[in-house]
Amino acid sequence: MPSQWKLHKPLVSLAFPYVVAALNNGVGVKPAMGWNPYNAFACAATEAMYHTQAQSVVSLGLLAVGYQYINLDCGWQATSRDSAGKFQWSNKTLPAGVPALATFVHNLGLKFGVYTDLGVFACDTVGGTAHFIGSLGHETSDVASYASWGADYVKVDNCFAVNSTDFVDFDPPISIKDHFTTMRDALAAAGRPILFSACEWGVQDPARWPGGSVANSWRISNDIGPPNSWDNIFRIMNQVVPITGFAAPGGFNDLDMLEVGNSGLTTAEQQTHFAFWAAAKSPLIISTDLTKASTQTLNILKNTRIIALNQDSLGKSIAFKRRYTNDHDVWSGPLSDGSTVALVINWQDSSRSLTFNLADVGFSSATATDLITGTSLGKITQTLAAHGSIVLKLTNAITAPTPTFTFYPAASGALAGGAITRVVNSSLTVVGFVGNGGTLTLSNVDGGASGGTKLLSFDYINGDVTFSNTACSNCRNTLVSVNGGTAVQVQMPISAQSWDILLSGYMVSLPGFKPGKTNTITLSNPSAFTPDFYRVGVAV
Ligand code: GAL
Repeated sequence: MPSQWKLHKPLVSLAFPYVVAALNNGVGVKPAMGWNPYNAFACAATEAMYHTQAQSVVSLGLLAVGYQYINLDCGWQATSRDSAGKFQWSNKTLPAGVPALATFVHNLGLKFGVYTDLGVFACDTVGGTAHFIGSLGHETSDVASYASWGADYVKVDNCFAVNSTDFVDFDPPISIKDHFTTMRDALAAAGRPILFSACEWGVQDPARWPGGSVANSWRISNDIGPPNSWDNIFRIMNQVVPITGFAAPGGFNDLDMLEVGNSGLTTAEQQTHFAFWAAAKSPLIISTDLTKASTQTLNILKNTRIIALNQDSLGKSIAFKRRYTNDHDVWSGPLSDGSTVALVINWQDSSRSLTFNLADVGFSSATATDLITGTSLGKITQTLAAHGSIVLKLTNAITAPTPTFTFYPAASGALAGGAITRVVNSSLTVVGFVGNGGTLTLSNVDGGASGGTKLLSFDYINGDVTFSNTACSNCRNTLVSVNGGTAVQVQMPISAQSWDILLSGYMVSLPGFKPGKTNTITLSNPSAFTPDFYRVGVAV
């Protein structure tokens, strides 16, 4: 599997409007909340385990705070269809059968989900060789079976989508959208409202599929695990940067099932993971063994202030606002009551004091409530654990004046060492192949009357999407030097999954400017490629 690839698509307009048209099937209007076995049990969940976990969702008070779906994952299916071609369950995994399990779940006041795959087979094998059945070509009949068994939700995976030997294809040579559209139409004809959870791993950028959402949620990335790690959280956070604007009631970015409660993340990391997923309007699907859930796990999962962010009727995701490389991130977004949620993530590997700069979310003043603890804050300085976060609800906000920038087109700079221009969408000239020896230097940059530290704003393209972890997963590093001084590392998330859509307004403050118009800014990276640059703004 390639760890990184470029998606060659027709160029689209850079002034790309978010056409958000959600799936209007009456369910999934808010992000789904529930439980799924995969992150804890892989494909080994049994009927007895489904019973126990469903009972735990109720007895631990998780249903009361919104977790309502109990979903099957891999391992419940048979390895062959019946003589009439109908989908069958595994008698070994589910001896009493799916309808009985659905009834058990429904009798607890919960909803029931099934899992299938739009491929020749599903992802997994049993006994080393026998494949679980896939639904490709059987969509209508399979959905009719699921509906008759009492399904309220279906998660649809993407293994063997191309053929019977191509297991997981991160660059499939076919339109995956066609598969999922067929499934959507089968579900629409099922005669029962069924939430459609598309698990396409983001390979063909389902957030941008033309014509509106095909599903109630779509996975945006490769699996969160196993193994469970902070690196996976970082990879997925970077991958959602360009598509936060596509979340809307009825259709949401799915950042994958939760790892809260599983080993591999500290408590602070689990808290950050949960708050980020909630505020990004991802489905919140618990995927841990609830019979062993600690008080800490339950405190994270049952924080009703954080859940309220997720279930807010506006349905808008937080968006990426500012990255202080290796230090902290700032994300924010609107809520239905007119307030703003701000999420500040500590990238440092140790606990530290951090002062949140309100201007990073566009405000000069606001009243802040800490949503993790529920306390009102007089000042926005907090001690944050390694990889911990502050989650703030901001009210009474006053908008800060926006800085004015003088822009320097990248193509007007001096290119050396392999850096070259390329025209995007027949309209914009960007500079590519910066890094690995290539450099871009902008001259005659205005440092104003006093020079010193300046706010810079980058417009760039980075389509370097990654489905497995790298040194910079779904991001690229640029070293920025002002007037030949010490280069500062600036980490830039992807701007899209293709090389034709800009990320505009990536801000960074840098020292070393002289008064007047004799400054230079040099962009480079000795050991990797940077994004392609369109322009750099320097605040007046
Ligand atoms: C993956 C999917 C996971 C899980 C797994 C089962 O493709 O993304 O969430 O369902 O298959 O093997």
